[in-house]
Amino acid sequence: MRKYGAQDPMPPEYRQLLIRVLDVQANIDVPNQNYTHWIYRAPTLDDQWWLARITMEELGHCRIFAALLKELGVDVDADNFIRLPAEEKKLDFMKVPWETWTDVGTFLFLTDRVGKYQLQEFVDCSYEPLVRAVGTVLEEEATHPVYGMSILQRICRTPEGRRDAQRHLEKWYPIALDMFGRSDSKNNERYRYWALKKRTHQEMRLAYIAEVEPLIRELGLEPPDPLVNRKYL
Ligand SMILES: [Fe+2]
Ligand SMILES: [Fe+2]
Repeated sequence: MRKYGAQDPMPPEYRQLLIRVLDVQANIDVPNQNYTHWIYRAPTLDDQWWLARITMEELGHCRIFAALLKELGVDVDADNFIRLPAEEKKLDFMKVPWETWTDVGTFLFLTDRVGKYQLQEFVDCSYEPLVRAVGTVLEEEATHPVYGMSILQRICRTPEGRRDAQRHLEKWYPIALDMFGRSDSKNNERYRYWALKKRTHQEMRLAYIAEVEPLIRELGLEPPDPLVNRKYL
């Protein structure tokens, strides 16, 4: 596999795909108003600390990806990432409000977990600065869904809590599964061609389902049908 550094001449398609994926990652990692809203409403001191810490880590990830873009000579206004209102976000899942504390737990448990799968693609990819950067991001990202599950564990102690959590799973599961992208994506094929990614969207989605379904059962809940309410397959 041919490896590239920031200063190396690159095939135009490679550079274009690299910039696109870094831009998506930088955008994914901007904590929106959902985070700040819930930091002040978290039920315990520990919850407030966790949510504040996650918010800071996501901002850190955004800075890392913005720095990678700048290193490539892309004129990014990183400050603009944090000013974009929710309705103008490029990614659908970021427009969904967190209306309840159960939303916070379910988002972190299901939706934030998708980030780990996207980042794993870069662990030994062809762009060396990205390989160097991704380790820290993955380490921090690994704790977010674990904390999300701990919120749900508390909620699931009562039958009403379990009903509430089940409803929230049904809301967030299709959103999380759609985040992997279309199974027949032509872009994904090109990313794999240039060794910027390894797996197809569907392979990643199936690996995610295999991880998350047993965890949902551990909570005493039913994994929702993965085909219901999906925007695309
Ligand atoms: Fe992140
Ligand atoms: Fe995260």
